[in-house]
Amino acid sequence: MTLEEKLGQLTQFVPDQPESRPALEKGLVGSMLGAIGAEQTNQLQRSALAGSRLKIPLLFGYDVIHGYRTIFPIPLGIAASWDPQLAELSARVAAREARAAGIRWTFAPMVDIARDARWGRIAEGAGEDPLLGSAMAAGYVRGFQENGFLACAKHYAAYGAAESGRDYNTVEMSERTLREIYLPPFRSAVDAGVATLMSAFESVNGIPATANHHLLDDILRREWKFKGFVVSDWDAVAELINHGLAGSKEEAARKAITAGVDMDMWDNSYSRLAGEVRAGRLPESVIDRAVRRVLRVKVQAGLFDDPYTPETAPPPLERDAARRVAQRSIVLLKNENSLLPLPKSGRRIAVVGPLADSKVDMLGPWSGKGMAEDSVTPLEGIRSIVGEPVAVEQADVIVAILGENREMSGEAASRASIELPADQQKLLESLVATAKPVILVVMSGRPLAISWAAEHVPAIVEAWFLGSESGHALADILFGDINPSGKLPVTFPRATGQVPIYYNYLPTGRPADAKHKYTSKYLDVPVGPLFPFGFGLSYTKFDYSNLTINGLTMSATVRNIGSRDGEEIVQMYIRQPVASVSRPVKELKAFQRVALKAGESKRVEFTITKRDLQFWSDGAWIVEPGEFKVWIAPDSASGLEGKFEFTSK
Ligand code: BGC
Repeated sequence: MTLEEKLGQLTQFVPDQPESRPALEKGLVGSMLGAIGAEQTNQLQRSALAGSRLKIPLLFGYDVIHGYRTIFPIPLGIAASWDPQLAELSARVAAREARAAGIRWTFAPMVDIARDARWGRIAEGAGEDPLLGSAMAAGYVRGFQENGFLACAKHYAAYGAAESGRDYNTVEMSERTLREIYLPPFRSAVDAGVATLMSAFESVNGIPATANHHLLDDILRREWKFKGFVVSDWDAVAELINHGLAGSKEEAARKAITAGVDMDMWDNSYSRLAGEVRAGRLPESVIDRAVRRVLRVKVQAGLFDDPYTPETAPPPLERDAARRVAQRSIVLLKNENSLLPLPKSGRRIAVVGPLADSKVDMLGPWSGKGMAEDSVTPLEGIRSIVGEPVAVEQADVIVAILGENREMSGEAASRASIELPADQQKLLESLVATAKPVILVVMSGRPLAISWAAEHVPAIVEAWFLGSESGHALADILFGDINPSGKLPVTFPRATGQVPIYYNYLPTGRPADAKHKYTSKYLDVPVGPLFPFGFGLSYTKFDYSNLTINGLTMSATVRNIGSRDGEEIVQMYIRQPVASVSRPVKELKAFQRVALKAGESKRVEFTITKRDLQFWSDGAWIVEPGEFKVWIAPDSASGLEGKFEFTSK
């Protein structure tokens, strides 16, 4: 290959970019972003293959985040199912639909851990926990990558830790926090065989992720043996200039490719590397390395065998799958006096709120080619069961569908205040003032600080954005056809000022104590969360008893003591109270979704390994023998507590 042909393979354009057409015709583009539909992709592919001396096909990438045509819940919602098989199912459907539209590569899953709900992109990931995040990451990769479709774990790395929750902002963090909290989902994606990674926008400890040797080379390539390629985020190579890491696009490109960013998204910086090579500032072997990685992935995707897409009718929507995933993503947060489920007759229901009938908002942020007209709203879902709702004055019960519209989370949608929008808060207060029972359904791309509602509204359902089947799945829950089983993948704060707030924090020397002023707390809000990580109610009740510990195997009896069948997500946490470094007050180490008929009980058993007891210390994973506390629990703030001794090295 000539140097220009090589650099072409490392360049990604969007179709309407002026420089893309001439480059394409000369065979000097490796990938296109945002071309969709069999017709358009085939046409571009034909031009590329006609122009390419070596007949190297284009790779078409697109943001297929939680569905392509059939829209599934946002990833934060799917994480609330705690079911990696549902992540896998949603990804499999999305990949099939995207492939039929000529797309071969998705910029998903986003596996960024997020502890700060101000950050709008918390919607796109699996929440705050590294173990849950790792399980979901692997599920998505398996689902997407069937049949040669390619996934891309993003944004490598620590993007979710943006200071102040402001998108694209700086990250400073210890190597231990990076290794223990932020990197595990990426590692899990790599171990599941993810073909590509995307480097992140922000700087990590002073070095932008897009030029970060430590992340891209030491860890990803050398330690984890990643064999695929890394694509930059949009314009992130050129933005090395804004970061103050480069004085020109040439220098930015040189730094990015040297660190290990193989493909340049959109900003056309890598074409300048020819000059850098010729001037002797960059060895051509660095370019060869990147080209080899990109071509290997193209082969893996079957592109050389089959570069085109049949121009047939798109596959029908997979509504059953979308509904099933949506049902399990819903979290019941409060249910005073068993207000829910509602009876299907004999009750006059009012349905109110700006999200009650907004088809487009059901899709959430990043909704691919999802069509608003295909989505079922809460009003439509409720109507399909009880007929036409009534106005508030005639109602026996009010369902208020409130929260964020879909523009309020996702990329570049950070909020400095994560309460309900003020007009909606007023509306909610006026509904409660009617003294009629109110059911609050919250739609949001992040945890909202709904303290007032938690105190004054008898029933609260967290519904995220549930996708095409929103209204049906919600009605299935509200009227009890499905017993809610989701649990929070993220802590809900009482007030914005508490964030970042998360369950696996480090202890302080002065744990909060209401009786002592000089302890770690606030004057104006209680220190704990409104709803803890792992929390979620059911229409039945589960009782936990009889914790036993045998070596690294722990078990407990979980009994359904209510009158309905249900599913419970049983969680196992540990803590090492004394070690050479301060360890988190709790760490999730295992979980199981258990189905229990009314009255039924099961022994739920977890076996962990020495690896689960490790922490990062002085450049290595180590285990320090000693005492460990253990909980088998319905959430991160309660449960049965025991302890064991780990002795062997
Ligand atoms: C986002 C990525 C996305 C890319 C391509 C960027 O702005 O950060 O997550 O994949 O755009 O659309």
